[in-house]
Amino acid sequence: MAILVTGGAGYIGSHTVVELQNAGYDVVVIDNLSNSSEKSLERVSKITGKDVKFYKTDIRDREGLNAVFEKESIDSCIHFAGLKAVGESVQKPWEYYENNIAGTLTLVDVMRQHNVKNIIFSSSATVYGDPAVIPITEECPKGQCTNPYGWTKSMLEQILSDIQKADNEWNVVLLRYFNPIGAHKSGLIGENPNGIPNNLMPYITQVAVGKLKELGVFGNDYDTPDGTGVRDYIHVVDLAKGHVKALKKLEDNSGLSIYNLGTGNGYSVLDIVKNFEAATGVKIPYVIKPRRPGDIAVCYSDASKAEKELGWKAEFGIKEMCADSWNWQSHNPNGYEE
Ligand code: NAD
Ligand code: WQD
Repeated sequence: MAILVTGGAGYIGSHTVVELQNAGYDVVVIDNLSNSSEKSLERVSKITGKDVKFYKTDIRDREGLNAVFEKESIDSCIHFAGLKAVGESVQKPWEYYENNIAGTLTLVDVMRQHNVKNIIFSSSATVYGDPAVIPITEECPKGQCTNPYGWTKSMLEQILSDIQKADNEWNVVLLRYFNPIGAHKSGLIGENPNGIPNNLMPYITQVAVGKLKELGVFGNDYDTPDGTGVRDYIHVVDLAKGHVKALKKLEDNSGLSIYNLGTGNGYSVLDIVKNFEAATGVKIPYVIKPRRPGDIAVCYSDASKAEKELGWKAEFGIKEMCADSWNWQSHNPNGYEE
């Protein structure tokens, strides 16, 4: 039996395929490569010494999905495929709702037609909106999202929960990721954004490698120790390992479960700059800019539920996150392009 990984050529997906193969799972990847390169999977093979079965398929393509399910013996699905750029989602809401929501509805329909009813869904701390409590537990009410991307996550959580409620043969794990950064120790796979990065760490690494002049720090007047935004950064390899633990949970017919995947530690933008400089010896020039619309001041997790119920805990600290991001970027200044 194999695990279907949608979006497996992407940043978190490729790292998860490594951990799945290392744990002995058979893996089948589908991806439409809209935000990734097949080269990531070649690199995964280099790391694990195992081939990765890959289908270039869109999750909105019912026939394409049917063909994969007919050919492969799929047991469970880890569903990463989706568009994820917050700013772009404000400009192109239809595209985000269609890709993420229509895509997931098609995927889930094809899954149930093939009697595959185990799914792990990539959700996000963004569903908490401006969180009602800090640190954020899973009991914290979902909030108002500030962009269509976030709403697709919030709505898909509801849709998958309703599907599980109506048919208890389904096992659904909703994983709410905090801020994934870092890369595999080998430096062979990592985050590879198109164009100018939206997120903090890839922006910093591109400044460090000389592709961008300086970091803009979005606001220094938040109610935080140094005035800059505080987030819960988590090493992508820890995050990937969380999926392997979540799969074990599904195997126990767990019904619906929801977990935060974070470290429980908050770091400000300037903390990240200092830690990056200390870990790499590379200076990051920065300027203070106005706040970015939609940003919140503070967001970090209480990750104790995942520790208690999944036996999962983030192991890497901020030093490794910075060093591994830099190891990837400095060895691959243009990502997967030669
Ligand atoms: P990514 O863009 O690197 O990976 C997503 C993959 O899905 C890409 O390879 C893309 O080509 C593929 N894809 C997109 N639409 C598709 C479609 N219709 N059919 C088939 N493939 C499709 O992003 P990532 O950072 O690896 O994120 C993975 C998942 O985790 C996404 O659902 C994202 O929303 C979620 N998430 C990411 C973060 C983060 O900060 N990176 C945080 C929370 C949640
Ligand atoms: C982190 C901090 C910025 C860039 C986003 C999505 C969320 C999830 C994770 C996908 C903030 C500051 C950033 C820069 C800066 N994504 N910053 N200069 O906004 O916490 O979360 O990614 O699923 O849904 O919203 O992450 O990395 O963009 O920002 O000062 O050039 O860094 O203001 O305080 P964010 P981020």
